[in-house]
Amino acid sequence: MRNFEQSNLLKRLPDQFFANLVQKVKELTEKGHDVINLGQGNPDLPTPVHIVRELQDAAADPVNHKYPPFRGFSFLKDAVASFYKQEYSVDIDAEKEVAILFGAKTGLVELGQCLLNPGDVALLPDPGYPDYMSGIALADVKTETMPLLKENDFLPDYQSIDREALDKAKLMFLNYPNNPTAATASKAFFDETVELAYQHNICVVHDFAYGALGFDGDKPQSFLQSAGAKDVGVEIYTLSKTYNMAGWRVAFAVGNASVIESINLLQDHMYVSLFGGIQAAAARALTGEQSSVKNLVSTYEDRRNRFISKLNEIGWKAEMPKGTFFAWLPVPKGYTSEEFADLLLEEAHVAVAPGKGFGKAGEGYIRVGLLDSAERLEEAVDRIAELNLFNDY
Ligand SMILES: Cc1ncc(COP(=O)(O)O)c(C=O)c1O
Repeated sequence: MRNFEQSNLLKRLPDQFFANLVQKVKELTEKGHDVINLGQGNPDLPTPVHIVRELQDAAADPVNHKYPPFRGFSFLKDAVASFYKQEYSVDIDAEKEVAILFGAKTGLVELGQCLLNPGDVALLPDPGYPDYMSGIALADVKTETMPLLKENDFLPDYQSIDREALDKAKLMFLNYPNNPTAATASKAFFDETVELAYQHNICVVHDFAYGALGFDGDKPQSFLQSAGAKDVGVEIYTLSKTYNMAGWRVAFAVGNASVIESINLLQDHMYVSLFGGIQAAAARALTGEQSSVKNLVSTYEDRRNRFISKLNEIGWKAEMPKGTFFAWLPVPKGYTSEEFADLLLEEAHVAVAPGKGFGKAGEGYIRVGLLDSAERLEEAVDRIAELNLFNDY
């Protein structure tokens, strides 16, 4: 067999930092160990039944056996607009301000290619969701990182970013509720972001993947709720987390009409939109009853409370996450995040994600996904307690 060389484009892609972790978990599991895997971000609960039923019915409808319209069915775009009106009191033009995506990941990776040229500058949060880097690498773009530090509540400090870098930057990625730090953002922060974007002519991409997951009664803020946000950016919303639909691959971008047009143009050349049945189910999810979402938030909140309280009992000083289904925990002194994650995996058979995998500023932390039952999460803490790591911590 001839071995055909990969394109330079592919060679630019960053290494998948977490592939190593996945492999180690697999090896331990194959040896028969009971690994509690809290290292990934895959929702563990099923899609609500009414959404599954909608797909079942739609799959039997011959309309959906044909190609769907290139830019998606109008009924789904209308559902997106009414969802934004209902949830955030934001007005969206369904035809001009919505692009249907094969999951948020696809949209986030496409955006660099839609809006940037080689050598342009993009601002990325550090730590941040690794796929921002993938899109940036494909577009052959330079990056400036915005450290998310505890002393700033894991929000970027715009004053500390070099003015020249701000003037050069064309695109900025933000994500609140935040993966991996579990921090949330206020309206005041998004107002400040709109102002900055205007001043420096930056397109803001707010990744709202955990938009439904805010705790203690606080509903996460949409970027589009800030005045002028639609003039300077878009928000990416996925059904993966809100409705446990990660495997269905459906999301959308909403906001600035010129950015939406660019996404749609690129997608016209790559896809013929999603299977109609998925679009029907997604519309049902967005416009149907939302009690499943409320129950899901309560489930994660209960897991969070039990897990974090128990961690504090064993001496691991951890703060309550404000949103997402992650906990961002400081690593005890004397370990790097990778060393500590390895220790937990090898000695306690608990898999967590080392913070370094999310960027330089993620060093000193590990990320735990609250994606198993509260009982299993408590068992994970019991196993960690046996290692006696926190006695003089
Ligand atoms: C911050 C963030 N953005 C986007 C995604 C991807 O979402 P989707 O399943 O819609 O591709 C994830 C998934 O883990 C995420 O954590």
